[in-house]
Amino acid sequence: MLYELKNISKTYKSIGETNHALDDITLSLKKGEVIVILGPSGSGKSTMLNLLSGLDKPTRGQILFEDIRLDKMNEESLNDYRRKHLGFIFQSYNLISNLTIKENIELGSHLSSNPLNMEEVIDSVGLSSHKNKYPYQLSGGQMQRVAIARALVKNPAVLFCDEPTGALDEAMGKNILKVLQEMNKKYKTTMIIVTHNPSIADMANTVIRMNSGKIVEVTQNKKVKKAEELRWA
Ligand SMILES: Nc1ncnc2c1ncn2[C@@H]1O[C@H](COP(=O)(O)OP(=O)(O)OP(=O)(O)O)[C@@H](O)[C@H]1O
Ligand SMILES: [Mg+2]
Repeated sequence: MLYELKNISKTYKSIGETNHALDDITLSLKKGEVIVILGPSGSGKSTMLNLLSGLDKPTRGQILFEDIRLDKMNEESLNDYRRKHLGFIFQSYNLISNLTIKENIELGSHLSSNPLNMEEVIDSVGLSSHKNKYPYQLSGGQMQRVAIARALVKNPAVLFCDEPTGALDEAMGKNILKVLQEMNKKYKTTMIIVTHNPSIADMANTVIRMNSGKIVEVTQNKKVKKAEELRWA
């Protein structure tokens, strides 16, 4: 198993109340899959990503990445873990405005000891003709593709995507999902995608549904849809 969560809880305490962001979650995640986490606002999706990616620690329970206890690691080891194995894509693209597209993507490759070939990655996200432009010269979907390329070029084992299509229209959104799907096939990158959009579940191998800090359902799709075949919610 890539990840194993055993009786994981995360609580936040504020004056007079305790908030159970995650409530006794037990779950295993397989390597090489596209995993979609669905759930309403406040259900604990981002908290889950933060724990898996070592940005935060559980209040209770064990969390293992390839049999190593993340919940026992110190900050320095967690930093190493993120640097070596993980990539991140967020709803906002976090590009650096005074660097070109190519330079933005290069930042990702500097983070890695075994980066992928820059030109190949730029080509596979369809940005070859834009690589010498600056972020302000691109559309939202194109900027998201830069962010994907920057995350992928370091060749991470796991790519975390928090609402990667949230700021995009249907055509751009599907376009981004298609890139993620192709990358999953080509490089066997495990994709963990958090979204409000239930249509995206059809392209997952595994779908995790959350509500109020709990997992309500885990389903496996026998047939996975291509990104371009999704019906948009
Ligand atoms: N740092 C924090 N301090 C206190 N409470 C928090 C913190 N982070 C999250 N929470 C609470 O934990 C619960 C789960 O939040 P989380 O961000 O995981 O939800 P989400 O499913 O990602 O929601 P959204 O779809 O709106 O992004 C919410 O009730 C939230 O208010
Ligand atoms: Mg969130």
